[in-house]
Amino acid sequence: MAPATEADLVALAALCAEVEACTLCDLYATRTRAVPGEGDPAADLVFVGEAPGYHEDQQGRPFVGQAGKLLEQLLVSIGLTRQQVFIANVLKSRPPNNRDPRPEEIAACQPYLWRQIALIKPKVICTLGNHATKLLTGNPAGITRVHGRPQAIEIAGHNLYLYPIFHPAAALYTPAMLTTLKEDFLRLPELLAQAAPPAGAAALPVHDVPAGDGPSAPAGAAGDVPAVTPAEAPAAPPAKPEQLGLF
Ligand code: URA
Repeated sequence: MAPATEADLVALAALCAEVEACTLCDLYATRTRAVPGEGDPAADLVFVGEAPGYHEDQQGRPFVGQAGKLLEQLLVSIGLTRQQVFIANVLKSRPPNNRDPRPEEIAACQPYLWRQIALIKPKVICTLGNHATKLLTGNPAGITRVHGRPQAIEIAGHNLYLYPIFHPAAALYTPAMLTTLKEDFLRLPELLAQAAPPAGAAALPVHDVPAGDGPSAPAGAAGDVPAVTPAEAPAAPPAKPEQLGLF
């Protein structure tokens, strides 16, 4: 992991200030505080959740509620702390009553996430749940189908592994999902030990917000991930883990 340059640190701080003052979608009117994200500005591992919940909205920090506690325990299971990774969300402002993010909100917020990724340059982005996974894969396949399968992607001009896992909030009260989440999590060190993926994976344009809503985890509160519907397209990652020689 190369240390963040002074220019990157300045750009990240400016981005943070921009998010805190953002009025690009209507959520600014109902939020208490925006939640830009936090962590190591040069982290190899970035987590992307769905949106701030009640506690995050109050504190202006990501994953500080029950789901955050679970995320921290999972990090400990692989020898990491939250200070050693970067934690962000698809939406930087809380949707009222933790409702699902709307496509226009995701589209308005997406450039912030892409800019964060361009500055942090992680080796692995771990998407938590459906909304983050669909946004970053550009594929409507739900988390139930694609969890635990690393995909090589190019995002914001940077080649990295995308690793979708269940959202901790969804796993909190669903023991089978929690077991799977723990198993998927334990494979992260192996992925982090890989060399960066080769260039040539499909780049995701900034405004390529996948249509349709599937199973999702509520922000800041626990909830079930509904069953994957037959209408959902099968996973079509740019490269399968077998092709990548992983797992
Ligand atoms: N759930 C999320 O998706 N993000 C948070 O920051 C907290 C809970």
